[in-house]
Amino acid sequence: MSVPVLNIGICGFGTVGQGVWQHLSANRARLEARLGVRLHLARAAVRDLGRARDVRLPRRLLTTDPLAIARDPAIHIVCELMGGTTVARQVTLTALRLGKVVVSANKALICEHGAEIMATARRHGGHFFFEASVAGGIPIIKALREGLVANRFPRIYGILNGTCNYILTRMREQGAPYAEVLAEAKRLGYAEADESLDVDGWDTAHKAAVLAWLAHGVWVRTDQMVVEGISRLTPADLRNAATLGYGIKLLAVITRDFRREELSVRVHPTLLPAGDVIANVNGVFNAISVTGDVVGTTLYSGRGAGRDATASAVISDLADAAALLRHGKGAHLLGEDAVAPARCRLAPPERILSRYYVRLTVRDEPGVLARVAATMARHRVSIATVIQGPSERPRAASLVLTTHQSDERALARTLRRLRALAAVLEDPVLLRIGDFAP
Ligand code: NAP
Ligand code: HSE
Repeated sequence: MSVPVLNIGICGFGTVGQGVWQHLSANRARLEARLGVRLHLARAAVRDLGRARDVRLPRRLLTTDPLAIARDPAIHIVCELMGGTTVARQVTLTALRLGKVVVSANKALICEHGAEIMATARRHGGHFFFEASVAGGIPIIKALREGLVANRFPRIYGILNGTCNYILTRMREQGAPYAEVLAEAKRLGYAEADESLDVDGWDTAHKAAVLAWLAHGVWVRTDQMVVEGISRLTPADLRNAATLGYGIKLLAVITRDFRREELSVRVHPTLLPAGDVIANVNGVFNAISVTGDVVGTTLYSGRGAGRDATASAVISDLADAAALLRHGKGAHLLGEDAVAPARCRLAPPERILSRYYVRLTVRDEPGVLARVAATMARHRVSIATVIQGPSERPRAASLVLTTHQSDERALARTLRRLRALAAVLEDPVLLRIGDFAP
């Protein structure tokens, strides 16, 4: 019996695209034996044909037209590994309209256009796989869709951005300057082409939107989330947190109150107790805690960015695509909105509760602490601890306050008032304290 051949076109031959080509070429015989198909790397699209690349391809396989790959009738599987949301959307929709399989690592695209992409796939008999879009090499999409299908999910939280975790780890362990570590993360292939997507929290928000859709069947837009990044954190915040018994991680937190039917999706740097497993996940590693109502709490960890980890996830999708094309539909093809129609609304800020860490740079003069405390008391924000220390500014002090449990609305009002005090010299730094003990 002849073995069917699957032709694969790769749009985007940068960090991820080259990793996929390299590892697929190296492991082709083993994969083909397991899958019962021949995997043929047919073409790749790039922007600049003249660019030197680690993985060399014959010139005849390269094109600058990714849409030509999407339209090519000989190509069965299109890997969209370019990034961005304009050409990538055209390529994805074109291939899906032709009933092809699209494999994507593009969380920004899925967050922005996921509903359209899934609907197009359903309408035209195309298929969309996206394991590499969240948490690099960790098979979290499979875990939520397949392994945990029995569950509803009251809480999912974790580190979803390798670049930020790498930066925070190096800042804490070596006191390395932020700009230097960011440049290193870029060189290592962890950061997005536009690094502000990483450090300002948007990449984590895109991934949180994908997880929220998988878990709850609802597309939450990033403008409906709290999204805060790490660019205002200083080594002093990491030291203060350590003094208080915490580490700081940029987290996505997705919670659903099933009694009220309210969903909350947020992204912010968070103080985690030093003993929390996720507080000890360092470098480019990601970690996700998923609490299901049947299984309890489960934990996933692994490399969250970089060529090899991401290639591993893309190749797992290629294997699923091969099985699908050879054997027909699988359980993963059910649309989440079809099986879990959106019944929940977004939680209002007054119902999002947390303890908080507030760092203020204030005039070093009598009565300032009393004014700050009075402002917080007016909004019923109760202070738990105070650390006063020197500031880098002359005649100023650094005040670090932690609060008892309060809510997002009360804290937003308090911060507005604190900013207006003459004794407060800089925009306050606000961090959440995560109490996620099971
Ligand atoms: P990258 O290194 O910047 O590579 C992008 C590739 O796409 C380059 O080869 C570029 O061509 C090509 N490209 C971009 N626009 C194009 C266009 N209009 N036409 C033809 N080719 C085009 O990016 P990457 O890090 O591999 O990331 C790719 C995707 O994977 C993004 O969606 C990213 O968010 C996602 N992702 C990345 C990682 C990671 O660790 N890097 C992990 C998970 C997911 P040139 O080389 O000629 O410029
Ligand atoms: N820039 C992303 C990160 C790539 O650092 O996590 C993986 O999605």
